[in-house]
Amino acid sequence: MLSHARERRGVRRMRMAKCADIVDRLVAQGGLSQQEYIALLTDYDRSTLDYAAEKARAVREQHFGRGVYLRGLVEVSNICSCGCYYCGLRAQNSRVVRYAMTADEIVGACAQGYEAGLRTFVLQGGQVAGREEFVADVVRKIKSQMPNVAVTLSLGEQPTEVYALWRKAGADRYLLRHESANAELYRAIHPEGMSFENRHRCLAELRGLGYQIGAGFMVGVPGQTPQVLAEEMKLLEQLRPEMVGIGPFIPQSDTPMGGQQSGSVELTLLLLSMIRLVLPEALLPATTALATAGQDGTLQGILAGANVVMPNITPLCYRDKYAIYDGKKSSGSESVEGVALLQQGLETIGYEVDWSRGDHPQFAQE
Ligand code: 5AD
Repeated sequence: MLSHARERRGVRRMRMAKCADIVDRLVAQGGLSQQEYIALLTDYDRSTLDYAAEKARAVREQHFGRGVYLRGLVEVSNICSCGCYYCGLRAQNSRVVRYAMTADEIVGACAQGYEAGLRTFVLQGGQVAGREEFVADVVRKIKSQMPNVAVTLSLGEQPTEVYALWRKAGADRYLLRHESANAELYRAIHPEGMSFENRHRCLAELRGLGYQIGAGFMVGVPGQTPQVLAEEMKLLEQLRPEMVGIGPFIPQSDTPMGGQQSGSVELTLLLLSMIRLVLPEALLPATTALATAGQDGTLQGILAGANVVMPNITPLCYRDKYAIYDGKKSSGSESVEGVALLQQGLETIGYEVDWSRGDHPQFAQE
């Protein structure tokens, strides 16, 4: 018995030492082999998380100091033509009360955020056709009425002409999570007709048009093995997006994946730290999903290497209708009312809000 326990402890110590070595290599090289990623993502424990976070914070502080950028998130519409199996807003979910904010409501929400000091607005919504000119008009209004703001769009897969139209209207950044680098997993969580290839085409085109691009994925989707996560890391090494959004998968009860387990907060934190080490200058949000699933998730995310928080500034009457997953947080420090609260929280861990518009360092300020 005793020798078994001793043996187990010995194996654990060896694994820990190995994980720390791998983290050191990640710091030194800014990347790892597929095998090393797999080993780290299989054998990590609490001490690995702490070690990776410490290294990630050192790197983020070199590039961004202790400032945290804020983005005002406006959930402009929950109408969506897609059928992603994980998402509560999927077209097939008849229990959602659908809404689309008017141009005045969107610009008004941003103006309020602007008053509060926000300098980036993220217009996020379902993927639809037919609203191209509407969106372009809203972007033009925001950019002309509010000096020195950045506008980020997150409105799904669109034809090149549409991305070009929106860019011309003044949009600066585009978030389109790639969802998975593994074609098989991608297929398992999306209906026929949606493809991994089209997602990548969109990201490449957005980049070509001069957008700062954001990729990302959910952590803990059923079927996402350490091998798959290693592929996500390799994809990020190659694509080098300016922004990376990751958060734990959280089931939404009215979806085909509603009965599945939530993703791990710890693994999300480890991946945040790893992504920071691969992409030292990336804009990495502590996402709403992380805040929802984890105790003090936002601050934990910052301590793992994140440098962005996205307070929700959607008008209250629409807030609960944007239910991508169950229990989604949108009050407290997840909202503009909570910015003061967030500031206090950040202070307790030695960080502070950076009120600039917070572009990626490789993109000159306009
Ligand atoms: N749990 C966590 N994240 C989700 N998303 C969609 N549904 C869920 C869910 N159930 C994420 C997707 C999408 C982003 C807008 O939200 O990654 O790209």
